[in-house]
Amino acid sequence: MDEYIRNTRQIRILSYPDPSKLDGAAEYSRTLRANFIKIGEIAQINRAILSNVLEPVLSSDQALTPETIDELNRFSSSLLDASSVESIDIPLSYHVSSRLMKYAVRSGDTALKLRQADYLISGSYSMVNMAKRFGFGQEACAPFREQGFMAADYIRQFCDPDSLASLESEELRELVLVNSRFSVCLYEGNSEDPVCCQENIDTLKRSISMADNPDIRSLVPDYDWRYHRFRAMEYIAAISEHNNSRGCTLESRRYISDVCDELLRIWDSDPEYYRNLSPRIYIRLAAMRNAYLCGRTDRDEYLEMLAELYRECEDVGQTFIAAEEVFYIIGIPLEYIYALERPSGFVTEENDRVFTSKAAEKLTEEQIRTLTRFYMVIEKRALYTIGTRSLSYLLEFLSLLLIHFIKVPEVSFKRFCLSAMRVLHPPTYVHTCMVGELSKCLCHYVIKYDPTRLAGFNGLNTAEEIRSHKDDILSFTEDAALCHDFGKIPLIDIIFVYGRNLFDFEFDLIRRHTDIGMTLLEYNSSVSRYRDIAGGHHKWYNDKSGYPFSFSIRESEIGPLISIVACADCMDAATDSIGRSYSRGKSLDEYIHEVEDGAGTRYAPYLPDLMKRPEVYESLRKILNERREDYYRLTYDKLTCRSMSEVL
Ligand SMILES: [Fe+2]
Ligand SMILES: [Fe+2]
Repeated sequence: MDEYIRNTRQIRILSYPDPSKLDGAAEYSRTLRANFIKIGEIAQINRAILSNVLEPVLSSDQALTPETIDELNRFSSSLLDASSVESIDIPLSYHVSSRLMKYAVRSGDTALKLRQADYLISGSYSMVNMAKRFGFGQEACAPFREQGFMAADYIRQFCDPDSLASLESEELRELVLVNSRFSVCLYEGNSEDPVCCQENIDTLKRSISMADNPDIRSLVPDYDWRYHRFRAMEYIAAISEHNNSRGCTLESRRYISDVCDELLRIWDSDPEYYRNLSPRIYIRLAAMRNAYLCGRTDRDEYLEMLAELYRECEDVGQTFIAAEEVFYIIGIPLEYIYALERPSGFVTEENDRVFTSKAAEKLTEEQIRTLTRFYMVIEKRALYTIGTRSLSYLLEFLSLLLIHFIKVPEVSFKRFCLSAMRVLHPPTYVHTCMVGELSKCLCHYVIKYDPTRLAGFNGLNTAEEIRSHKDDILSFTEDAALCHDFGKIPLIDIIFVYGRNLFDFEFDLIRRHTDIGMTLLEYNSSVSRYRDIAGGHHKWYNDKSGYPFSFSIRESEIGPLISIVACADCMDAATDSIGRSYSRGKSLDEYIHEVEDGAGTRYAPYLPDLMKRPEVYESLRKILNERREDYYRLTYDKLTCRSMSEVL
């Protein structure tokens, strides 16, 4: 199992070769190619370890020895680090923990059940966080949250002094106390439910009050109560994360704000001690946010304070661990954007459910400057320098940012997503650019030789009408094609970084990149007209196969363009070898054969003849042979350029 962990780390390192350490674009593209072949080999070893070593143990009916259980828990913990948020494979860790929990329940052993419940809460929490970004809603999180609460309920039974005293060791008693506060993390993502929110506050108040109970204190003489109290208060402060008052009453919001002020006082009373628990900016941000959410600070003042806090974080000399850096580089901008989404003066006695998907009012010059700065720094620092270490956490924040993205003149949604792709997975970025170019090329020749194939697009019907709008159609097609896989951004770790066989739910998720893409595009008005390209590019021409099931190419107003992008998408995928570690790329001729075989079912029936025209064939061949390298060169240049203004 240790080998598996080493291999997984290695895969992640190989996935992100540091371009600044490589000598030129050619070496960069060579390295990527070589790395992905290596990743393919390592992934095979890892698959074998899972199927030959792990699965037989997990699925055996035999009793497990304590040593085996220990080893499995160690394995699962090495994959997941809920406190530093530098996990390397959350789903696999969760898989192991939930299987061991089932085993513990069957065994009836109290100590084993408590320990496994503890592991399962961490695993479920991390899964809830992951699921948040896939579902953009509640259902995706529900199964994991349910598992976590089941484990938390079990532990909670031991919170009173008598039950706590019944536990054999101090280690188990401490485990109960830790979870009396930590288990509230499972509420995360329950963003609009006032009942959950109140439950969350009550649980934490109970947990804090345990510190005042002498009977409980005497049972755990070595327990760090100072730490316990601080953390529990910090969880209360986090309830409103992302400017979300979660339906809290004004009274609760004032209570949370008071807790934050108190936290700040406590922190300042002993910086040496508290610095190791939590960066001060984290507490300050919570205090500022909650003062705003309960009406003690007005919105414009709050926006200015956020911008100021951000500037402080940027100051040279500040060092942050990866998770903190994600927190401030994307976390503060997110708070800023959420505040912009609400009209000023929204705080009332009523529960706060005000939510608009875009900036509520026209942005001021200052706000535009601030947002532009945020986006540039995210591109330059968060995405690039931290991606490999705190990837899951980064993607969680980034997905929220994409949903709430507010465009500014210098940074459009499309451009921001392309930057993100370029950093998070260069081969996907190159693929996207290639699909843009191939789609435009195919579309150009459709307009030249067979224009009425596009009849119906934008109300254009005759060959003359279509030809006279050629430039508009081509730029629409290229832009739409560039957006086709944006739904992969929140899934990038699952799709590319693990190097193992996927669990069923992960396969389902990957297929959801089309839905996620549609949602992202819909939320952003500058690209919402490309929604159907994201939604339909994996659907077959005849609508009978492919996914998603509910999408119909025939009913889409841009159906003929979807067929073109779908063909370009498969063409690039089939002929590329980078990023697809185990298969060699096909030739263009082989791909055209494939299109012939699928003409009328998978592909639009006119495509093979079009692609076989010497002029078209030659253009496609040229793009496939030359442009891919060009895009790798461009990626290298962008990733290594020093000046921030050049980046965007
Ligand atoms: Fe796709
Ligand atoms: Fe694609």
